[in-house]
Amino acid sequence: MSVKNININGQRLWDSLMEMAKIGATEKGGNCRLALTDLDKQGRDLFVRWCEEAGCSIKVDKMGNIFARRAGRNPDLPPVMAGSHLDTQPTGGKFDGVYGVLAGLEVVRTLNDHSYETDAPVEVAVWTNEEGSRFAPAMVASGVFAGVFDLDYGLSRADLDGKTMGEELERIGYAGSEEVGGRPIRANFEAHIEQGPILEDEEKTIGVVTGAQGQRWYEITLTGMEAHAGPTPMRTRKDALVGAARIVGDVNRIGLENQPNACATVGLMQVSPNSRNVIPGQVFFAVDFRHPDDEILSKMDAELRAVSERIAGEIGLEMDFEQIWYSPPVNFDPDCVAAVRAGAEEAGMPHLDIVSGAGHDACYINRVAPTGMIFVPCEGGISHNEAENAKPEDLAAGCNVLLHAMLERAHA
Ligand code: GLV
Ligand code: MN
Ligand code: MN
Repeated sequence: MSVKNININGQRLWDSLMEMAKIGATEKGGNCRLALTDLDKQGRDLFVRWCEEAGCSIKVDKMGNIFARRAGRNPDLPPVMAGSHLDTQPTGGKFDGVYGVLAGLEVVRTLNDHSYETDAPVEVAVWTNEEGSRFAPAMVASGVFAGVFDLDYGLSRADLDGKTMGEELERIGYAGSEEVGGRPIRANFEAHIEQGPILEDEEKTIGVVTGAQGQRWYEITLTGMEAHAGPTPMRTRKDALVGAARIVGDVNRIGLENQPNACATVGLMQVSPNSRNVIPGQVFFAVDFRHPDDEILSKMDAELRAVSERIAGEIGLEMDFEQIWYSPPVNFDPDCVAAVRAGAEEAGMPHLDIVSGAGHDACYINRVAPTGMIFVPCEGGISHNEAENAKPEDLAAGCNVLLHAMLERAHA
């Protein structure tokens, strides 16, 4: 059977996406399946069952990363991999991450339908805690796999209640025995919804992802003084929330002043004691900065440090300022990028080259294996939102491109 004649089953892919979306379904049609919760376990269990039914062998590593392998003719060749994540944001959608995992499974199922033998094994990977919502930073388990973080660092990441990834992996039964990383991968591909508006605006079905922008994440704690909201004169206050609010304004300004490409967000804040008639004594918040140009990202970093110091000083606040994560801009492997482009051409799909605004596990795996990514449009470019949506035909097209890119790399 010639590779050209093989097509994935779009209906089966869609049905699997909808089945997975029942786990942690939210009222507004999205998903809440935070990393290493009981719901994440249910999603993992379903994926593992599907892979076993498709004849794959399963391995789980010490970070809970799952690898489902379809054997190739030559077991000595490193696998060609497709992977992404099953965890979601608290008000996440049905496609972010899940699509890349289930597109990989659909490739395996399609190869089975055609009894198609590859030289290299084909593997589908589920990376733990890509989102970085429950445990910061994002992409932490693919980061350990790629040697960016050590295992102790990964396992000791804690959520806001102090529960660590190591404890939670044990609790849900996904603390595997495999060492993390250190094994060759022939090529790695991640299919994903774009999570932005470019493909839709340009009326293209496939984004050939050439790289991803850099990111810096910060945690800032401002400490002032709790006091009564009535008797305490305005001039004597050390209001930590006023300091945080001013810094949030500057975060936004720094983003706006570094257009067209900068992104700057404060998405997490905890106010203490969070009582309406107590002047806030302490505020903890997180800043997310992104830019495709590392020099501009450094400039944004320097400016954030300077304005935060100044604002804390002016109000008389103590400040604990920590950059907790730096992920430099990424350029994907030229051969993998070319394989994605060729796959889109072969499928007759309109495509364009694109830089990812979001972080992806592929960004870290790219450090240890040739990697590429495939984007498909999502409705209105909306993601990290329960309304996230994508067209079945676009998801199928992206999966066909994934199939062809993987097959191009799966032969000796
Ligand atoms: C991961 O979803 C990110 O923040 O880009
Ligand atoms: Mn994702
Ligand atoms: Mn995401």
